[in-house]
This record gives sequence, C-alpha cells and structure tokens, in this order.
Amino acid sequence: MESIGVIGAGKIGGSLLTRLADSKKFTLTVADIHTEQLARYKEYGGINTTTSNKELAEASDFIVIAVKPWDVANVLDGISPILEGSNKAVASVAAGIPISTMEKHAPSEAALLRVMPNVCASVGLGSAVVTANEAGQKTLPLLMEIFSHVGQVMELPERLFDAATALHGSGPAYVALFADSLIQAGVREGIPRDVARKLVIGTIEGTAELLKDRSAHQVRDEVMTPGGTTAAAFVAMERSGFTGAVYDGVSAAARQSKELGE
Ligand SMILES: NC(=O)c1ccc[n+]([C@@H]2O[C@H](COP(=O)([O-])OP(=O)(O)OC[C@H]3O[C@@H](n4cnc5c(N)ncnc54)[C@H](OP(=O)(O)O)[C@@H]3O)[C@@H](O)[C@H]2O)c1
Repeated sequence: MESIGVIGAGKIGGSLLTRLADSKKFTLTVADIHTEQLARYKEYGGINTTTSNKELAEASDFIVIAVKPWDVANVLDGISPILEGSNKAVASVAAGIPISTMEKHAPSEAALLRVMPNVCASVGLGSAVVTANEAGQKTLPLLMEIFSHVGQVMELPERLFDAATALHGSGPAYVALFADSLIQAGVREGIPRDVARKLVIGTIEGTAELLKDRSAHQVRDEVMTPGGTTAAAFVAMERSGFTGAVYDGVSAAARQSKELGE
C-alpha cells in the first residue's frame, strides 16, 4: 500500500485526505501546526496525525504540501534532510510557487511535482492540473491517481500554471460571485430570496450538465429567441462590460500568481 503524507490540514489538504481515506487504498498521514486542525482527522479513521512534518516525511513515500504559498519553502527546508538520498516524491498544491523555487529548498535530483486543484475537490468534483520536474516524471501517474479521488486530473506544462490557477483554481469564487449577483438580481425583481437561491443553483447545475456535450454558444443560442428577453439581457450585460470584466479578472489573478512566485 502506497504511503501518502499531506502537510497542511486545511481546505485542500483536508478534502484530499477524507476522500483518500474513504478509498482505503493508501496509508495516510497528515501534519499541521495546529492540533485542533488535526482533531477531525484523528476521529475520521484510517489517518495518522502528527504536528511534526519530519515525522510525516519519514512515514510517507509521497508527500503533498498543502500550505499557503509563502509557507512552502519553510516546509521543504524542514523535510529536505529526510528527502536526501530517498525515493520519496513531493508535490505542492501552492499557487504561484514554481518547481524551480521548490528545487532551491530540496536536495538535487529530488522528485518534485506541482498540482493546481480547486476547492470543488471537497465534493469530489474538483479539477486539477499536474506537472513535474525530470526526476518527478515517473511519479506523475501516482499524483494523477491521488487527485482522481477528488475529481478530474489533466497534465499541463508548467508555463501555463499561472493561467490555470487564475482559471479554475480561483474559478469557484467567480462562479459564486456570479451566483450571488443573480440571486440579488432576482430579489431585486421581487422573487423571495430562498426561491431565487434554489432557482439559481438549479440553473447553474443544469447549465453545467448541458455544457458537457454542447458548446457555450449552442446553449446561448438555444435560450436566446431573436427579439426576446435573453437577447435584451445580453445587450445590457455587454454594455456594462461583462465579458471584459471576466477577461480582466482572470488576467489579474494570473499576474498575482506569477508575482507570488517572484
Ligand atoms: N483554497 C483554495 O481554493 C485553493 C485552490 C487551489 C490551490 N490552493 C492552494 O492550496 C494551498 C493550501 O490552501 P488552503 O486554502 O487549503 O489553506 P489552509 O486552509 O490555510 O490550510 C493550510 C493549513 O496548513 C497549516 N500550516 C501552515 N504552515 C504549516 C507548516 N509549516 N507545517 C504544517 N502545517 C502548516 C495552516 O496553518 P495556518 O492557518 O496557521 O497557516 C493551515 O492549517 C495554498 O498554497 C493555495 O495556494 C488553494
């Protein structure tokens, strides 16, 4: 059984852990600096907990670093002596931190990988992209298997990671912003809030299903009757800069991801 260690029992690390535990395919350890963060996993069953990253690194063949971007170097420095001369591999989920930076805090020839997941992992509908340095290439299939337990996984060149971080890493927040705006708009038109909320969630769920086998343009054209209500909405939304706002938002997130790595 492969032994997996997750450093950082937060939103991403935690989602991954519970799904991996449910699969019963791995020996699991989680480390966090906060004992209260670990309590939930202690009770979950099938997950070893520790406040020592070194202890976790000793016990694990594959280590996933799921701490904030500015904590990654510190975590790597701490476990680096244990990685030295071992066959262990390390993957980071941190936004913006390139493999070249990870390499500065790990032994030479260490197998280092990156994954950009999103928070939909917590409901098993996450999307993740993965990449690796040369030494990490042989471990990519294991990384893909691990993240397949929380959603879809694709390989992507590292040069596109800032863009992917901006697109799907932050993506659930954009969709939530749009959902909130729609609910508010419904309330403004007089629909009770709980009804507006159900209608909007159902619309997003249903549209996501339609988009699986239709292009976005096809869905738009199916809804938009010439001279009708949707056409009027599109003109008003575009006049207010809807598409431009989306381009600008994703572009700002990609720039921020790049800056985090500098
Ligand atoms: N959340 C998302 O939607 C999302 C999406 C894609 C990628 N990511 C990436 O995933 C990473 C984790 O994000 P998250 O939202 O899951 O963070 P989070 O909820 O804050 O979880 C990180 C956990 O690790 C702990 N920690 C900090 N330093 C540590 C150390 N040296 N050793 C062990 N544990 C330590 C943190 O404690 P403190 O709270 O004291 O720091 C916290 O409990 C980030 O790098 C982020 O860029 C997040």
